[in-house]
Amino acid sequence: MSGRRDIRLWNSAAGQYAEHVNGTSDSFYRRLAPFLWQALGDVSGRSVLDLGCGHGWLGEQLRSAGAVVTGIDGSTALLERAAGAFPDITFVAHDLTAGLPRPLTQYHAVVAHMVLMDLPDLDQLVRDVRDSLTPQGSFTFSILHPSFFAQEPVDDGERYRKVTGYLRHEQRWITTFGGHQHYHRPLSWYVDLLVSNGFVVTGLHEPPTLPHHTRPESEWTDYERWFATIPTMLALTCRPAPASAV
Ligand SMILES: C[S@@+](CC[C@H](N)C(=O)[O-])C[C@H]1O[C@@H](n2cnc3c(N)ncnc32)[C@H](O)[C@@H]1O
Repeated sequence: MSGRRDIRLWNSAAGQYAEHVNGTSDSFYRRLAPFLWQALGDVSGRSVLDLGCGHGWLGEQLRSAGAVVTGIDGSTALLERAAGAFPDITFVAHDLTAGLPRPLTQYHAVVAHMVLMDLPDLDQLVRDVRDSLTPQGSFTFSILHPSFFAQEPVDDGERYRKVTGYLRHEQRWITTFGGHQHYHRPLSWYVDLLVSNGFVVTGLHEPPTLPHHTRPESEWTDYERWFATIPTMLALTCRPAPASAV
């Protein structure tokens, strides 16, 4: 399935997205960061691909840490911002539902922060990521948590999230940033996809949900403290399976 329609939506959303998601202070990045940097280790001199790089802020973190960074995204509107702000990164416009651009390039690490659940088709992409990684390479990504993100929080004397239809693949309309599609699949679907494409899962992270504004936990409201116990994001890291295990 082509990502053309989604990319058009992201082009329309680019201004709002870039304004709202301001890099390292963003609550999703704050949740991801410890896991990401542990999974990556020392990136200096390493080639790293930022899949679905948006306006480039994560690529810039990687570049500042010494990596040679390529960012790929479908939205030319986001890429224009990225290229203007971060001239030392190579940015490529490409529809990721078609996999990676040909010919494939080798990377020591591939990261995809908050991207895979926005793509309707991941088959070719995951295969290409696998084929692009060096034998010791890693693929680390974050997604909205399939179990909890889109499930309505309820506060009717008791607080809980209402989980329905979890195992059904669904297309959901997300209204933030002017709107885009979200493709819901259960967590086991992601793991099956990775394993069937020759990956070994080496880490899974379900960080507490952090409030948008950085404040010490002692200043969180009672609701924020409760909300933190239900992860709305998860991150996973995997490596190519050793040749003998495939
Ligand atoms: C939620 S944003 C994440 C962007 C960036 N990783 C960040 O953390 O700010 C999702 C990104 O996926 C990109 N995207 C959506 N569909 C795509 C497609 N079919 N091909 C390439 N990129 C796509 C969007 O343009 C957008 O930059």
